[in-house]
Amino acid sequence: MHDFKYKRNCLYCEDVRVLDLARRFGTPLYVYSYKTLTDHFLKLKTAFEEIRPLICYSVKANSNLAILKALVDKGAGLDVVSGGELFRAKKAGCPAKKIVYASVGKTDYEIETAIKMGILFFNVESLPELTNINRIAKRINRTVNIAIRINPDVEPKTHKFITTGKLTNKFGIDFKTAEDILSKSKDFSNISIKGLHIHIGSQITESAPFIAAVTKIVNFIEKIKGKGINLEYLNIGGGLGIIYDKETPQTAKEFAGKILPTLKKTGLKIIMEPGRFIVGNAGILVARVLYIKSTPIKKFIIVDGGMNDLIRPSLYGAYHTILPLLASKTKPQAMGKYDVVGPICESGDFFAKDRVLPPVKEGDFLAIMSTGAYGFSMSSNYNSRPRAAEVLVSRNKIFTIRKREGYNNLIYNELTSFNPAFCGMRG
Ligand code: LLP
Repeated sequence: MHDFKYKRNCLYCEDVRVLDLARRFGTPLYVYSYKTLTDHFLKLKTAFEEIRPLICYSVKANSNLAILKALVDKGAGLDVVSGGELFRAKKAGCPAKKIVYASVGKTDYEIETAIKMGILFFNVESLPELTNINRIAKRINRTVNIAIRINPDVEPKTHKFITTGKLTNKFGIDFKTAEDILSKSKDFSNISIKGLHIHIGSQITESAPFIAAVTKIVNFIEKIKGKGINLEYLNIGGGLGIIYDKETPQTAKEFAGKILPTLKKTGLKIIMEPGRFIVGNAGILVARVLYIKSTPIKKFIIVDGGMNDLIRPSLYGAYHTILPLLASKTKPQAMGKYDVVGPICESGDFFAKDRVLPPVKEGDFLAIMSTGAYGFSMSSNYNSRPRAAEVLVSRNKIFTIRKREGYNNLIYNELTSFNPAFCGMRG
């Protein structure tokens, strides 16, 4: 499942002792396994071999250039949602014809840049957006390929913040409106509607929601075929869940087994946009224990990483396994119950609540597992904390893929020309 394992009581990433990385690079530190990353991509590719889908890795999950490069090198395309991600995709050497672009709020600048770059298509999320893309394409004299993102109104049974395919969510276009758009496609002179797209949510551990959404969309494709509308692509989005705790998500093979027959029926080229499935278990966050604090009713392990480094527990109440870098045999009665917290000035700054852990002491290191997806990519400088370094390990090789930020990074874009004296009366 992943390549972070104990050998002789030390946690390793592939052939490298994580403790050595923590000492060499300092903490908080993100550590990624190249093998886990690429294995997960290949698992999906192999499972769907029969239909040779274009697998567009979802950049938002982890947008480090080295991660993107590693996947592009294996044949992945990229799913982007902003001009910044498009910029990264280009820097990582992804061919434009393997880039798809979603987002409910694409700006004119982002749209024009992507058109000029020649991306495969936009996943369009509303009629006003479609009208705008057409207007921009016309102005620069281009014809643009798009897919309509359908909101199939399916319950994905995941956290409500990462549910995207219900009609109460801001994403996608309902079937009726989509049908209207398709039958009036000639009104959009500079647009060619090439396909349909769905993405119903993230960390979905059951197959039923996927099947329900794909079945709805396949029926829709049949219906519009009857009206003489033929498409080329079906993009089934991302969302495949992974194991954080006791989840039992479907494997790539099981997923393929269930969904392939329906996909094959369409005869369309299939695109998928996995993020978490590929990178989630390929990364850990390492933090150092600063203090153990006991109050009359609680014990806190205070570490040097915080919600600015990893916001998932604070934002979604997400569970991440926490392991010491040095394991010791601990009798059950020696185990303690701790809140593992960061240094940030908010009570929401925690990695775990009431977690049963072996005894730890100041200076020990802890690994927060399965943080490869939506870890660093959602990190911030809150509390003026420089962002963590990132290293990628392949067998016994170590690559720094992002240097630790310094204090100068914090103020890089700030201007000190402001002088309160020029702003009216003082005192
Ligand atoms: N495609 C689209 C259009 C998306 O919006 C997303 C994720 C994906 C693909 C990739 O989904 P995945 O395969 O990674 O589930 N920050 C949250 C997850 C937000 C997901 C946003 N969209 C978290 O930490 O759980």
